[in-house]
Amino acid sequence: MSAMNDRSGSTIDLRRVAINPDYWYPLARSKDLKPGKTIGACFGGEPIVLGRTSSGVLFALEDRCAHRQVPLHMGVIEGESLRCAYHGWCYDTTGKITRVPYLPKGSLPPRRTVRSYPCKEAYGLIFVFPGDPKKAEKVSLPDIPEWSSPEYFTMYFSRTVRCHYTFLHENLMDMNHQFLHRRLMGNVQPVMLSFEQGEGYIEARYKFRHDREQPHVGSRFLVLGARQATKARSERDFELMVVRTQYPYQVLTVYPAQVETTAVKLWAVYVPTDREQRVNRSFGLLMVRKPPIPGLIYLAWPIMRYFTERVFRQDKAIVEAEQRAYDQQGADLNQEVFPLLLKLRQLLAEKGVAPEHQLAQAPLSNGCV
Ligand code: FES
Ligand SMILES: [Fe+2]
Repeated sequence: MSAMNDRSGSTIDLRRVAINPDYWYPLARSKDLKPGKTIGACFGGEPIVLGRTSSGVLFALEDRCAHRQVPLHMGVIEGESLRCAYHGWCYDTTGKITRVPYLPKGSLPPRRTVRSYPCKEAYGLIFVFPGDPKKAEKVSLPDIPEWSSPEYFTMYFSRTVRCHYTFLHENLMDMNHQFLHRRLMGNVQPVMLSFEQGEGYIEARYKFRHDREQPHVGSRFLVLGARQATKARSERDFELMVVRTQYPYQVLTVYPAQVETTAVKLWAVYVPTDREQRVNRSFGLLMVRKPPIPGLIYLAWPIMRYFTERVFRQDKAIVEAEQRAYDQQGADLNQEVFPLLLKLRQLLAEKGVAPEHQLAQAPLSNGCV
């Protein structure tokens, strides 16, 4: 049932809807970009060079030299300038050409600049605003309060996943897929309690009970901190999981039974890299509440990491299989039956950029795959 209607009633194929560029997207981890270095990244087929000058100023530019279009990330940082690897043209952090080294003194460099992108750092990530730069100031970065709280430890994930970003939104929102994780999670039976939606978001609340006979030790460790640290009590005797797509981000929060404190929060975003947006770089921050026994977190950490990596590996394999099926058939033949998912698909279609509104296509071989 590929047919989905947009607001005007015409049908759209969700897997051809481009992500909305007028948001902040992480393209790299801060720790991977030291002063004096560059990184080549991509957003939806646009090559972007991230750089940090010698004094530490962060910048993001179109990753093509204005001279002969070779990638600027192959160049070098000299002081506060980026110098192309080929003929050594110099750029400032706004993309302006400041010097063509082999022209006689006093001659003006070409006026053409390379595009510069608004960029910021937060949560240990480098965020770029790939859309209309005039909108950047009005659009907030995501709000992730647990990240800076001393009560939580943060684990980073960053993976290339070869599927359209919408498959990942659907995967996380649809807890009915726990069958996929049965070897890791035991016989978990999630039940959706309710969902709500509003401008730019949809949020579902699930309850679930672990199979007490065979829980995976990793899943128990994940909720250890909140289980023992709180005094708040409620009537609830089941674990509560809230999954929210706050376009274009996604947040999953787990509250253990009888506890109102966040045990685990996963913040995730899936950043398309190629022009057709069939490949994305997924960034995840998993914030785990520290257990009350000092030092226990360091013992538990490798187990938690191993467990979450394995869960994610299963999700990655299945969504990549979905993308391959789509590619073989050339259309989205999903027969979605879960009302929550139908609403989520509608949200993703409305917030994204429909094929007819996508701008002139970037060239094919631009290194972004
Ligand atoms: S291609 Fe960059 S300086 Fe010539
Ligand atoms: Fe999953």
